[in-house]
Amino acid sequence: MMSTYSHKIIILTFLAFSGLCLAYFMLFSGHPVSDVEDQSPGPVAMKDLDKPILLVWFWPFGIQIDPADCETYFNINNCVLTGDRSLYNVSDAIIFSHKSIQWNLANMPHAPRPDFQKWIWYHVESPRNTVRRAGFGGLFNLTLTYRRDADITVRNEVSIARTAEEFVVPRKDKMVCWIVSNMSHRTGTATRTAYVQNLTKYINVEMYGGASKRPLSPDEYYPTIASCKFYLAFENSLYQDYITEKVNGPLVAGTVPVVMGPPRENYEQFFPADSFIHVDDFSDPKALAEYLLQLVLNDDMYKQYFRWRKYFKATPHLTKREQEFLQPLCEACEHIGTDNSFSVVNNLNEWQFGL
Ligand SMILES: *[C@@H]1O[C@H](CO)[C@@H](O)[C@H](O)[C@H]1NC(C)=O
Ligand SMILES: *[C@@H]1O[C@H](CO)[C@@H](O)[C@H](O)[C@H]1NC(C)=O
Ligand SMILES: *[C@@H]1O[C@H](CO)[C@@H](O)[C@H](O)[C@H]1NC(C)=O
Ligand SMILES: *[C@@H]1O[C@H](CO)[C@@H](O)[C@H](O)[C@H]1NC(C)=O
Repeated sequence: MMSTYSHKIIILTFLAFSGLCLAYFMLFSGHPVSDVEDQSPGPVAMKDLDKPILLVWFWPFGIQIDPADCETYFNINNCVLTGDRSLYNVSDAIIFSHKSIQWNLANMPHAPRPDFQKWIWYHVESPRNTVRRAGFGGLFNLTLTYRRDADITVRNEVSIARTAEEFVVPRKDKMVCWIVSNMSHRTGTATRTAYVQNLTKYINVEMYGGASKRPLSPDEYYPTIASCKFYLAFENSLYQDYITEKVNGPLVAGTVPVVMGPPRENYEQFFPADSFIHVDDFSDPKALAEYLLQLVLNDDMYKQYFRWRKYFKATPHLTKREQEFLQPLCEACEHIGTDNSFSVVNNLNEWQFGL
Protein backbone atom coordinates (compact mmCIF):
# COMPACT_ATOMS: atom_id res chain seq x y z
CA MET A 1 0.00 0.00 0.00
CA MET A 2 1.20 3.46 -0.84
CA SER A 3 2.07 5.71 2.10
CA THR A 4 -0.19 8.67 2.74
CA TYR A 5 2.80 10.86 2.17
CA SER A 6 3.60 9.71 -1.36
CA HIS A 7 -0.10 9.72 -2.05
CA LYS A 8 -0.21 13.37 -1.16
CA ILE A 9 2.79 14.16 -3.31
CA ILE A 10 1.11 12.58 -6.30
CA ILE A 11 -2.13 14.40 -5.68
CA LEU A 12 -0.35 17.70 -5.14
CA THR A 13 1.79 17.24 -8.22
CA PHE A 14 -1.30 16.49 -10.20
CA LEU A 15 -3.05 19.52 -8.77
CA ALA A 16 -0.10 21.80 -9.35
CA PHE A 17 -0.01 20.52 -12.90
CA SER A 18 -3.72 21.03 -13.48
CA GLY A 19 -3.42 24.44 -11.85
CA LEU A 20 -0.63 25.34 -14.20
CA CYS A 21 -2.58 24.05 -17.20
CA LEU A 22 -5.55 26.05 -16.08
CA ALA A 23 -3.49 29.18 -15.64
CA TYR A 24 -1.75 28.54 -18.94
CA PHE A 25 -5.07 28.05 -20.62
CA MET A 26 -6.48 31.20 -19.15
CA LEU A 27 -3.43 33.31 -19.82
CA PHE A 28 -2.80 32.26 -23.38
CA SER A 29 -6.18 31.30 -24.74
CA GLY A 30 -7.14 34.87 -25.42
CA HIS A 31 -9.04 35.19 -22.16
CA PRO A 32 -8.55 38.69 -20.83
CA VAL A 33 -6.31 38.55 -17.76
CA SER A 34 -8.41 41.13 -16.07
CA ASP A 35 -11.63 42.46 -17.42
CA VAL A 36 -13.71 44.96 -15.51
CA GLU A 37 -16.86 44.07 -17.44
CA ASP A 38 -16.51 40.40 -16.54
CA GLN A 39 -18.38 39.49 -13.35
CA SER A 40 -15.92 36.75 -12.39
CA PRO A 41 -12.85 38.31 -10.79
CA GLY A 42 -10.62 36.98 -13.59
CA PRO A 43 -8.16 34.12 -13.82
CA VAL A 44 -5.34 33.55 -11.42
CA ALA A 45 -2.32 35.62 -12.38
CA MET A 46 0.98 33.82 -12.98
CA LYS A 47 2.67 35.55 -10.04
CA ASP A 48 -0.02 34.22 -7.69
CA LEU A 49 0.33 30.55 -8.61
CA ASP A 50 2.21 29.70 -5.43
CA LYS A 51 -0.46 31.22 -3.25
CA PRO A 52 -3.36 29.21 -1.86
CA ILE A 53 -6.76 29.83 -3.41
CA LEU A 54 -9.65 31.03 -1.27
CA LEU A 55 -12.96 30.60 -3.02
CA VAL A 56 -15.81 32.81 -1.83
CA TRP A 57 -18.86 30.63 -2.42
CA PHE A 58 -21.41 33.40 -1.84
CA TRP A 59 -20.54 37.05 -1.95
CA PRO A 60 -22.25 38.29 1.24
CA PHE A 61 -25.47 40.02 0.16
CA GLY A 62 -24.19 39.76 -3.39
CA ILE A 63 -21.53 42.37 -2.68
CA GLN A 64 -18.34 41.47 -4.49
CA ILE A 65 -15.12 42.74 -3.02
CA ASP A 66 -12.01 43.70 -4.89
CA PRO A 67 -9.22 41.33 -3.71
CA ALA A 68 -6.73 44.18 -4.15
CA ASP A 69 -8.48 45.92 -1.25
CA CYS A 70 -7.08 43.30 1.17
CA GLU A 71 -3.64 44.65 0.42
CA THR A 72 -4.78 48.27 0.43
CA TYR A 73 -6.59 48.17 3.78
CA PHE A 74 -5.06 45.28 5.70
CA ASN A 75 -1.74 44.64 4.02
CA ILE A 76 -2.87 41.06 3.30
CA ASN A 77 -1.94 39.48 -0.02
CA ASN A 78 -1.04 35.90 0.73
CA CYS A 79 -3.90 34.15 -1.03
CA VAL A 80 -5.81 34.30 -4.27
CA LEU A 81 -9.30 35.46 -3.36
CA THR A 82 -11.82 34.56 -6.01
CA GLY A 83 -15.51 33.94 -6.61
CA ASP A 84 -14.85 31.73 -9.62
CA ARG A 85 -16.55 28.41 -8.85
CA SER A 86 -14.81 26.66 -11.73
CA LEU A 87 -11.75 26.68 -9.45
CA TYR A 88 -13.59 24.47 -6.94
CA ASN A 89 -11.36 21.42 -7.36
CA VAL A 90 -8.15 23.38 -6.89
CA SER A 91 -9.29 25.73 -4.11
CA ASP A 92 -7.42 25.34 -0.83
CA ALA A 93 -10.32 26.75 1.13
CA ILE A 94 -13.91 27.81 0.56
CA ILE A 95 -15.65 30.39 2.67
CA PHE A 96 -19.43 30.26 3.22
CA SER A 97 -21.37 33.11 4.72
CA HIS A 98 -23.93 31.53 7.03
CA LYS A 99 -26.77 33.83 6.04
CA SER A 100 -26.58 32.68 2.44
CA ILE A 101 -26.77 28.95 3.14
CA GLN A 102 -30.18 27.47 2.31
CA TRP A 103 -32.00 25.49 5.02
CA ASN A 104 -31.44 22.18 3.19
CA LEU A 105 -27.85 23.08 2.21
CA ALA A 106 -28.95 22.80 -1.43
CA ASN A 107 -26.76 25.70 -2.52
CA MET A 108 -23.56 24.23 -1.07
CA PRO A 109 -21.11 22.44 -3.40
CA HIS A 110 -22.23 19.01 -4.60
CA ALA A 111 -18.99 17.71 -6.12
CA PRO A 112 -16.74 15.62 -3.84
CA ARG A 113 -14.56 17.74 -1.60
CA PRO A 114 -10.81 17.37 -2.12
CA ASP A 115 -9.13 16.17 1.11
CA PHE A 116 -6.87 19.19 1.41
CA GLN A 117 -9.72 21.66 1.05
CA LYS A 118 -10.94 23.55 4.11
CA TRP A 119 -14.47 24.83 4.43
CA ILE A 120 -14.82 27.97 6.50
CA TRP A 121 -18.03 28.84 8.32
CA TYR A 122 -18.32 32.62 8.38
CA HIS A 123 -20.79 34.38 10.66
CA VAL A 124 -20.42 37.46 12.81
CA GLU A 125 -23.89 37.77 14.38
CA SER A 126 -24.72 36.63 17.90
CA PRO A 127 -26.68 33.36 18.42
CA ARG A 128 -29.77 35.51 19.05
CA ASN A 129 -29.67 36.56 15.42
CA THR A 130 -28.57 33.30 13.86
CA VAL A 131 -30.84 30.87 12.06
CA ARG A 132 -30.04 27.33 13.08
CA ARG A 133 -29.26 24.86 10.28
CA ALA A 134 -29.22 21.08 10.43
CA GLY A 135 -26.46 19.03 8.83
CA PHE A 136 -23.57 21.14 10.09
CA GLY A 137 -21.79 18.37 12.01
CA GLY A 138 -18.37 17.67 10.52
CA LEU A 139 -19.15 19.85 7.52
CA PHE A 140 -16.72 22.67 8.17
CA ASN A 141 -13.03 22.79 9.02
CA LEU A 142 -12.79 26.30 10.42
CA THR A 143 -14.99 28.86 12.11
CA LEU A 144 -14.70 32.57 11.40
CA THR A 145 -16.62 34.65 13.92
CA TYR A 146 -16.26 37.47 16.47
CA ARG A 147 -15.45 34.92 19.19
CA ARG A 148 -12.00 34.61 20.65
CA ASP A 149 -12.20 30.84 20.53
CA ALA A 150 -13.03 30.79 16.82
CA ASP A 151 -10.34 29.49 14.46
CA ILE A 152 -10.30 32.88 12.77
CA THR A 153 -11.37 35.74 15.01
CA VAL A 154 -12.55 38.93 13.36
CA ARG A 155 -12.93 41.94 15.59
CA ASN A 156 -11.60 45.39 16.31
CA GLU A 157 -9.16 45.66 19.17
CA VAL A 158 -6.83 48.35 20.34
CA SER A 159 -3.14 47.83 19.77
CA ILE A 160 0.00 49.03 21.45
CA ALA A 161 1.07 52.45 20.24
CA ARG A 162 4.75 52.37 19.34
CA THR A 163 5.02 56.10 19.14
CA ALA A 164 3.28 58.31 21.64
CA GLU A 165 1.21 60.98 19.97
CA GLU A 166 -0.33 63.84 21.87
CA PHE A 167 -4.06 63.28 21.85
CA VAL A 168 -6.37 66.26 21.71
CA VAL A 169 -9.97 65.60 22.73
CA PRO A 170 -12.19 66.73 19.84
CA ARG A 171 -14.54 69.66 20.42
CA LYS A 172 -17.87 68.49 21.83
CA ASP A 173 -21.26 70.10 21.43
CA LYS A 174 -23.46 67.17 22.42
CA MET A 175 -23.86 65.05 25.54
CA VAL A 176 -24.82 61.49 24.72
CA CYS A 177 -25.18 60.13 21.18
CA TRP A 178 -26.58 56.91 19.86
CA ILE A 179 -26.56 55.54 16.32
CA VAL A 180 -29.13 52.82 15.92
CA SER A 181 -29.95 51.10 12.68
CA ASN A 182 -32.54 48.57 13.80
CA MET A 183 -35.01 48.76 16.67
CA SER A 184 -36.99 45.69 15.63
CA HIS A 185 -37.52 43.68 18.81
CA ARG A 186 -36.93 40.56 16.76
CA THR A 187 -33.22 41.34 16.87
CA GLY A 188 -33.32 41.22 20.67
CA THR A 189 -33.15 44.94 21.29
CA ALA A 190 -36.04 45.40 23.74
CA THR A 191 -33.81 45.73 26.84
CA ARG A 192 -31.53 48.21 25.18
CA THR A 193 -34.42 50.36 23.92
CA ALA A 194 -36.07 50.43 27.36
CA TYR A 195 -32.78 51.42 28.96
CA VAL A 196 -32.23 54.32 26.57
CA GLN A 197 -35.80 55.53 27.00
CA ASN A 198 -35.20 55.59 30.71
CA LEU A 199 -31.88 57.36 30.31
CA THR A 200 -33.45 60.15 28.27
CA LYS A 201 -35.50 61.11 31.31
CA TYR A 202 -32.30 62.34 32.99
CA ILE A 203 -29.89 63.28 30.21
CA ASN A 204 -30.16 64.39 26.60
CA VAL A 205 -29.58 61.57 24.09
CA GLU A 206 -29.13 62.47 20.41
CA MET A 207 -30.32 59.71 18.13
CA TYR A 208 -28.98 58.99 14.64
CA GLY A 209 -29.11 56.19 12.12
CA GLY A 210 -31.61 54.15 10.13
CA ALA A 211 -34.03 53.67 13.04
CA SER A 212 -34.17 57.43 13.77
CA LYS A 213 -35.16 60.49 11.79
CA ARG A 214 -31.48 61.28 11.20
CA PRO A 215 -29.76 58.64 9.05
CA LEU A 216 -26.00 59.11 8.69
CA SER A 217 -23.84 58.68 5.62
CA PRO A 218 -20.63 56.67 6.13
CA ASP A 219 -18.62 59.90 5.90
CA GLU A 220 -20.58 61.43 8.77
CA TYR A 221 -20.00 58.47 11.10
CA TYR A 222 -16.72 59.41 12.81
CA PRO A 223 -17.25 63.22 12.88
CA THR A 224 -20.71 62.78 14.42
CA ILE A 225 -19.44 60.48 17.15
CA ALA A 226 -16.50 62.80 17.79
CA SER A 227 -18.86 65.70 18.53
CA CYS A 228 -20.42 63.88 21.50
CA LYS A 229 -19.07 63.54 25.04
CA PHE A 230 -20.38 59.99 25.29
CA TYR A 231 -21.49 57.36 22.84
CA LEU A 232 -23.92 54.54 23.62
CA ALA A 233 -22.26 51.35 22.42
CA PHE A 234 -25.20 49.10 23.22
CA GLU A 235 -25.15 45.65 21.63
CA ASN A 236 -28.42 44.22 20.30
CA SER A 237 -28.05 41.07 22.41
CA LEU A 238 -25.81 39.99 25.28
CA TYR A 239 -23.27 37.24 24.60
CA GLN A 240 -19.71 36.46 25.62
CA ASP A 241 -17.28 38.23 23.22
CA TYR A 242 -20.14 39.83 21.30
CA ILE A 243 -18.60 43.29 21.44
CA THR A 244 -18.81 44.94 18.06
CA GLU A 245 -17.50 47.93 16.14
CA LYS A 246 -19.93 50.00 18.25
CA VAL A 247 -17.12 50.33 20.82
CA ASN A 248 -14.37 50.83 18.29
CA GLY A 249 -16.15 53.81 16.69
CA PRO A 250 -16.01 56.11 19.75
CA LEU A 251 -12.51 54.94 20.70
CA VAL A 252 -11.31 55.94 17.23
CA ALA A 253 -13.28 59.20 17.19
CA GLY A 254 -12.12 60.35 20.64
CA THR A 255 -15.34 59.82 22.59
CA VAL A 256 -16.10 57.81 25.72
CA PRO A 257 -18.11 54.67 24.97
CA VAL A 258 -20.86 53.72 27.38
CA VAL A 259 -21.21 49.99 26.83
CA MET A 260 -24.02 47.47 27.27
CA GLY A 261 -23.24 43.87 26.44
CA PRO A 262 -21.43 41.04 28.22
CA PRO A 263 -19.96 41.72 31.70
CA ARG A 264 -17.20 44.26 32.23
CA GLU A 265 -14.49 41.55 32.60
CA ASN A 266 -15.19 40.46 29.04
CA TYR A 267 -14.73 44.02 27.74
CA GLU A 268 -11.51 44.29 29.71
CA GLN A 269 -10.13 41.39 27.67
CA PHE A 270 -10.31 43.61 24.60
CA PHE A 271 -10.08 47.21 25.79
CA PRO A 272 -8.29 49.05 28.61
CA ALA A 273 -10.48 49.09 31.74
CA ASP A 274 -10.49 52.90 31.90
CA SER A 275 -11.42 53.46 28.25
CA PHE A 276 -15.15 52.86 28.67
CA ILE A 277 -18.07 53.13 31.08
CA HIS A 278 -20.18 50.00 31.62
CA VAL A 279 -23.90 50.27 32.37
CA ASP A 280 -23.52 47.42 34.89
CA ASP A 281 -21.37 49.73 37.02
CA PHE A 282 -24.58 51.56 37.90
CA SER A 283 -27.73 50.43 39.67
CA ASP A 284 -30.05 52.02 37.09
CA PRO A 285 -30.21 54.50 34.17
CA LYS A 286 -30.69 57.37 36.62
CA ALA A 287 -27.43 56.62 38.46
CA LEU A 288 -25.60 56.36 35.12
CA ALA A 289 -27.03 59.69 33.97
CA GLU A 290 -25.93 61.35 37.21
CA TYR A 291 -22.40 60.06 36.75
CA LEU A 292 -22.24 61.26 33.14
CA LEU A 293 -23.46 64.72 34.19
CA GLN A 294 -20.79 64.77 36.89
CA LEU A 295 -18.12 64.06 34.24
CA VAL A 296 -19.47 66.85 32.07
CA LEU A 297 -18.91 69.28 34.94
CA ASN A 298 -15.52 67.92 35.91
CA ASP A 299 -13.12 67.95 33.02
CA ASP A 300 -10.27 66.33 34.96
CA MET A 301 -12.46 63.35 35.69
CA TYR A 302 -13.61 63.19 32.07
CA LYS A 303 -10.01 63.28 30.80
CA GLN A 304 -9.18 60.15 32.81
CA TYR A 305 -11.03 58.24 30.11
CA PHE A 306 -8.42 59.32 27.55
CA ARG A 307 -5.34 58.32 29.53
CA TRP A 308 -5.04 54.93 27.79
CA ARG A 309 -4.33 56.71 24.52
CA LYS A 310 -0.77 57.31 25.59
CA TYR A 311 -0.07 53.60 25.30
CA PHE A 312 -2.65 52.20 22.92
CA LYS A 313 -4.32 53.12 19.69
CA ALA A 314 -7.65 52.24 18.10
CA THR A 315 -7.76 51.48 14.39
CA PRO A 316 -10.66 52.82 12.33
CA HIS A 317 -13.00 50.21 10.91
CA LEU A 318 -14.46 50.63 7.45
CA THR A 319 -17.89 52.23 7.45
CA LYS A 320 -19.14 51.84 3.88
CA ARG A 321 -21.76 49.16 3.35
CA GLU A 322 -19.86 47.59 0.44
CA GLN A 323 -16.74 47.29 2.61
CA GLU A 324 -18.44 45.62 5.54
CA PHE A 325 -17.28 42.15 4.51
CA LEU A 326 -13.79 43.05 3.51
CA GLN A 327 -12.13 42.44 6.87
CA PRO A 328 -13.54 38.90 7.41
CA LEU A 329 -12.71 37.80 3.88
CA CYS A 330 -9.21 39.26 4.03
CA GLU A 331 -8.55 37.66 7.42
CA ALA A 332 -9.68 34.29 6.07
CA CYS A 333 -7.19 34.84 3.26
CA GLU A 334 -4.44 35.64 5.74
CA HIS A 335 -5.25 32.50 7.72
CA ILE A 336 -5.18 30.03 4.85
CA GLY A 337 -2.06 31.70 3.55
CA THR A 338 -0.21 31.00 6.80
CA ASP A 339 -1.82 27.97 8.47
CA ASN A 340 -1.50 24.40 7.25
CA SER A 341 -3.03 22.52 10.14
CA PHE A 342 -5.71 19.89 9.80
CA SER A 343 -8.98 20.67 11.54
CA VAL A 344 -12.61 19.67 11.67
CA VAL A 345 -15.52 21.42 13.39
CA ASN A 346 -17.60 18.57 14.74
CA ASN A 347 -20.36 20.21 16.71
CA LEU A 348 -20.88 23.59 15.18
CA ASN A 349 -24.42 24.05 16.47
CA GLU A 350 -23.41 23.07 19.98
CA TRP A 351 -20.49 25.48 19.85
CA GLN A 352 -22.67 28.28 18.53
CA PHE A 353 -25.84 27.80 20.55
CA GLY A 354 -24.63 25.96 23.65
CA LEU A 355 -26.94 22.99 23.26
C1 LIG B 1 -14.17 18.50 -9.83
O1 LIG B 1 -13.80 17.13 -9.84
C2 LIG B 1 -14.88 16.21 -9.92
C3 LIG B 1 -14.33 14.80 -9.83
O2 LIG B 1 -13.75 14.63 -8.58
C4 LIG B 1 -15.67 16.44 -11.20
O3 LIG B 1 -16.79 15.60 -11.24
C5 LIG B 1 -16.13 17.89 -11.26
O4 LIG B 1 -16.74 18.15 -12.49
C6 LIG B 1 -14.98 18.84 -11.07
N1 LIG B 1 -15.50 20.17 -10.94
C7 LIG B 1 -14.98 21.22 -11.56
C8 LIG B 1 -15.68 22.53 -11.32
O5 LIG B 1 -13.99 21.16 -12.25
C1 LIG C 1 -34.41 44.87 11.45
O1 LIG C 1 -34.30 43.52 11.87
C2 LIG C 1 -35.42 42.72 11.52
C3 LIG C 1 -35.27 41.36 12.16
O2 LIG C 1 -34.02 40.78 11.90
C4 LIG C 1 -35.52 42.67 10.00
O3 LIG C 1 -36.66 41.90 9.62
C5 LIG C 1 -35.67 44.09 9.45
O4 LIG C 1 -35.66 44.06 8.05
C6 LIG C 1 -34.53 44.98 9.96
N1 LIG C 1 -34.78 46.34 9.56
C7 LIG C 1 -33.85 47.14 9.06
C8 LIG C 1 -34.26 48.55 8.78
O5 LIG C 1 -32.70 46.75 8.84
C1 LIG D 1 -36.90 52.64 34.12
O1 LIG D 1 -37.20 53.48 35.19
C2 LIG D 1 -38.25 53.06 36.03
C3 LIG D 1 -38.45 54.07 37.13
O2 LIG D 1 -38.36 55.36 36.64
C4 LIG D 1 -37.99 51.68 36.58
O3 LIG D 1 -39.11 51.23 37.31
C5 LIG D 1 -37.68 50.72 35.45
O4 LIG D 1 -37.32 49.45 35.97
C6 LIG D 1 -36.56 51.24 34.62
N1 LIG D 1 -36.30 50.37 33.48
C7 LIG D 1 -35.07 50.01 33.11
C8 LIG D 1 -34.98 49.16 31.89
O5 LIG D 1 -34.08 50.35 33.68
C1 LIG E 1 -11.98 19.12 6.47
O1 LIG E 1 -13.15 18.53 7.02
C2 LIG E 1 -13.57 17.38 6.34
C3 LIG E 1 -14.92 16.96 6.90
O2 LIG E 1 -14.87 16.73 8.26
C4 LIG E 1 -12.51 16.32 6.48
O3 LIG E 1 -12.91 15.14 5.80
C5 LIG E 1 -11.24 16.84 5.86
O4 LIG E 1 -10.19 15.92 5.99
C6 LIG E 1 -10.83 18.16 6.53
N1 LIG E 1 -9.68 18.71 5.81
C7 LIG E 1 -8.72 19.46 6.37
C8 LIG E 1 -7.64 19.90 5.47
O5 LIG E 1 -8.70 19.81 7.54
